[in-house]
Amino acid sequence: MSDPHPQTAPLPRHVAIIMDGNGRWARRRKLPRTAGHQAGVAAVRRTVEHCAKRGIEVLTLFAFSSENWRRPPEEVAVLMRLFQLTLERETAKLHENGIRIRVIGDRCAFPPELQHRILEAERLTFANRRMTLVIAANYGGRWDIVQAARALARRVEQGELKSQDIDETLFAAHLAGAELPEPDLFIRTGGEVRISNFLLWQLAYTELYFSEVLWPDFDAAELDRALAEYARRERRFGHTSEQLELKKSYG
Ligand code: IPE
Ligand code: IPE
Ligand code: MG
Repeated sequence: MSDPHPQTAPLPRHVAIIMDGNGRWARRRKLPRTAGHQAGVAAVRRTVEHCAKRGIEVLTLFAFSSENWRRPPEEVAVLMRLFQLTLERETAKLHENGIRIRVIGDRCAFPPELQHRILEAERLTFANRRMTLVIAANYGGRWDIVQAARALARRVEQGELKSQDIDETLFAAHLAGAELPEPDLFIRTGGEVRISNFLLWQLAYTELYFSEVLWPDFDAAELDRALAEYARRERRFGHTSEQLELKKSYG
C-alpha cells in the first residue's frame, strides 16, 4: 500500500487534539455517554501509536477541561476512574516504547490516588525521548494564563524581577508545558468548530483542522488526512507569501 504521508511533506513537531464526540458516539448506539468515553480510550491508544510511528515529537490530548466539572457528577466520576485506570494499564507499555508522559492542568483538584499515579507516570518516563505525550487534564487556557501571571507577580513581589522585564518570551516561559515547542497542528474531532478554552496563548499561530469524525472513530487514516492538509498549508507568521518564496530560494 502506498504511504499517504511521504517523508518529504513537512511534518508538525507538535500536534494538539481536542478529543470530542464521545457522548454523541454513544448516543447513536443507544449506549450511555460513559460507553463513549470507554471507546475513546481505544482511539487514544491508536493515536499515540500512529503519532509515534509518524515521528511526531509532541502529542497533546485534551482529556478534561476546567469546565467539564459542570457535567453530571456520575460522568465526572467515570472520567476520573478511566483516567486512573488508563494510566495504570498503559504507563509501562508507553515507557517501553520510549514515550514520556506529561500532565498539564490543575491537578490539585484530582483525588489523591490519581495525583499519585500521575506523578509516578511522569517520574518513570521522564528521560524518554521518542515522543512526549502531554495530557491536558483539568486544563483551561484561561487558567494557564492566570497561573503564569500569578507566578510572575510572585517573582516581582520577591524582588527577582521588575515589571518591565516581562515580555512575551518570559511570559510564555511560565505557561504549562513551556519546555515544549508550540503546537503546529491543532485537531478537533466531533464537528464543533471552537477552541473550548484549550491552549489559548500557545495556539496563536497553530494551523487548525476540524474533523467531523467522532473521537471514538478517529483512526490513522483521519490523522493522516490532517497531516496531509497541514503539509499543504503555508505558515506565514505575518510575512507575505512572496517573502517566504524569496527566503526559500536564498535561505
Ligand atoms: C469529549 O467527548 C470527552 C470529554 C469532554 C471528556 P464529549 O463527552 O464532549 O462528547 P459529546 O461532545 O457530548 O459528543
Ligand atoms: C472540550 O470538549 C474538552 C475536551 C475534549 C476535554 P467539550 O465537549 O467539553 O467542549 P464544549 O463544551 O462542547 O465546548
Ligand atoms: Mg463535547
